[in-house]
Amino acid sequence: MKAIILNEFGPAQNLQLADIPTPEINDDQVLVKVNAISINPVDVKSRETQAVLTGIKERPIILGWDISGVVTESKSSQFKKGDEVFGMVNFPGHGKAYAEFVAAPAAHLALKPVNTSHDSAAAACLAALTAWQNLTEYYRLGKGQRVLIHAGSGGVGHYAVQIAKYLGAYVIATSSSANKRFVLSLGADEHIDYQAVQFEDEADDIDLVINPLSREIAERSISVVKQGGTIISIASGVDDDLKEKGGEKNVKIFRTMVKSSGKDMQQLAKLLYDGQIESHVSEVFALEDIRKAHASIESGRTVGKIVVKP
Ligand SMILES: NC(=O)c1ccc[n+]([C@@H]2O[C@H](COP(=O)([O-])OP(=O)(O)OC[C@H]3O[C@@H](n4cnc5c(N)ncnc54)[C@H](OP(=O)(O)O)[C@@H]3O)[C@@H](O)[C@H]2O)c1
Repeated sequence: MKAIILNEFGPAQNLQLADIPTPEINDDQVLVKVNAISINPVDVKSRETQAVLTGIKERPIILGWDISGVVTESKSSQFKKGDEVFGMVNFPGHGKAYAEFVAAPAAHLALKPVNTSHDSAAAACLAALTAWQNLTEYYRLGKGQRVLIHAGSGGVGHYAVQIAKYLGAYVIATSSSANKRFVLSLGADEHIDYQAVQFEDEADDIDLVINPLSREIAERSISVVKQGGTIISIASGVDDDLKEKGGEKNVKIFRTMVKSSGKDMQQLAKLLYDGQIESHVSEVFALEDIRKAHASIESGRTVGKIVVKP
């Protein structure tokens, strides 16, 4: 089968198109013929250094975690041949999604909604799971609560805005002016153009901040959070100094990590089916153009999601 392999960490040039054997499946796994893959900033981090794929000795590495496709073989009672499935496979771990076929634990997948395309389903894996797990598991966002979502136009942010609205929260989201209309179209109650104003001057009395940006943004966010509120950082570390600064206002600050979960994928499937969330796919690349896809996600300007077709 066709796959994109990585023998050595480094620049996008190290991603090589190769013909490799189709994987075999173990108990409780299914073989998925992949129709669409989505990529995430973590793919780039995993390409550059071993830091993300710690402990994975197997070579070549096959990057990627988000897939949507059709089951062609099953050793699981959960799915049968012909089922259309989607999910984030083996995260954190070796997902091996940049390929025509993926061996996936059934426990990481859900049935793809019949009214959702493979492109939209593949998009709604790692980024959507991150939004879902942070808003419902790491923090239980309630009706009427005020949430500030930084980078509301990005992969995680655009699902987080929609899920927070679904949960009944009051949503304030940041992006540049270029993405203002998009962010408001997702249901955000207020938009802050972070390039035109300091977000601290615009938002206040916040219960929860979702921070997919830097430590500096986390620290600046303390001033907008109410006493006893929470800041979740997903892309930057939370050190003792930051915790202490939050502690002065009784604000909890912590970092979370998304994890594969078929159960959570079922929740996302329901939201997609009901139209409560939609994937915004801004770019689609052929697998052969994976280097271009990486260049695009690396720009930090992605609107919604990028999909790759094997
Ligand atoms: N810990 C975890 O479990 C976890 C899970 C998922 C993602 N992450 C991490 O979270 C980060 C975000 O992921 P993602 O997929 O959402 O990234 P992404 O799709 O690449 O985000 C791009 C978006 O960020 C916006 N943006 C950039 N700088 C901004 C700023 N200063 N203020 C407001 N918006 C800004 C851009 O909007 P403009 O062009 O309008 O500026 C763009 O739309 C990545 O570092 C990723 O690795 C962590």
